[in-house]
Amino acid sequence: MDRYLVFGHPVRHSKSPFIHTLFARQTQQALEYGLAEPAVDAFAATLQGFFADGGKGCNVTVPFKEQAFTLVDRLSPRAQRAGAVNTIKLTDDGILLGDNTDGAGLVADLKAHGVDLVASRVLLLGAGGAARGALAPLLAERPSELVIANRTHAKAEQLAAEFHDLGAVTAKPYADLQGRFDLIINSTSASLQGDLPPLAPALIHHEIAIYDMMYGATDTPFIHWAKQHGALQTMDGLGMLVEQAAEAFTVWRGIRPGTKQVLRELKRNLGIL
Ligand code: ATR
Repeated sequence: MDRYLVFGHPVRHSKSPFIHTLFARQTQQALEYGLAEPAVDAFAATLQGFFADGGKGCNVTVPFKEQAFTLVDRLSPRAQRAGAVNTIKLTDDGILLGDNTDGAGLVADLKAHGVDLVASRVLLLGAGGAARGALAPLLAERPSELVIANRTHAKAEQLAAEFHDLGAVTAKPYADLQGRFDLIINSTSASLQGDLPPLAPALIHHEIAIYDMMYGATDTPFIHWAKQHGALQTMDGLGMLVEQAAEAFTVWRGIRPGTKQVLRELKRNLGIL
């Protein structure tokens, strides 16, 4: 049977095996999907061993995405732009192709929620790996303006300069943000420390859409905060998780699984429904 797995550390709580097993059942693909948690300095050797042993493809998650970028034979344009690889496929001619489906997953989930990015004003919080992965797919939707705000402003400026050729992207310090945004995306890891990005409550209004790439059984701190200040449409990163997986499955198997039912089952599995 064709074998796939997800590399991460820690990865024990990954939902990827659950999601891909449901995709495989739904599309009647014969495959198995497991977990690998190599020591941080053993990733390259473990990856090599997996493919030498007949593995067909893998997902890569924290903290290995940047390392995976340097280990594959060829990069998709979106992985090149992201500077990170979350999906690897062994091609028929024996080449390891590195791809990045995170940003496509975000955009697919926004669309699934009816958020139209065309001509909208978007605020992206954070300038780390998650923001970098999202930028090209977001700009491809042609927002009228995309502003990046980051605690370390220089990093936001650098990202904006790097993606400038793809659309109207600028960097602004948190304190200088103003005007009416249609969508705010939180890509920061602030909530891991129980923290919030330093955003002025006045930026929140009833029509705004709020997206937090993080997720949990209850509202993330950022979503909780946005609701308190009047946001009515809030979304967490669970949908993005399922959509990036669907994109990876499509890369591997050439068949696109449906995501709605799988997202419902995942929520049930997490005790959210
Ligand atoms: P990831 O790969 O998840 O993006 P990362 O590359 O470590 O992780 O980036 C984390 C992002 O969250 C950064 O933009 C970071 O801001 P800095 O560049 O200033 O470090 C942001 N971040 C983390 N904790 C934060 C906090 N408490 N408030 C605001 N931003 C925070």
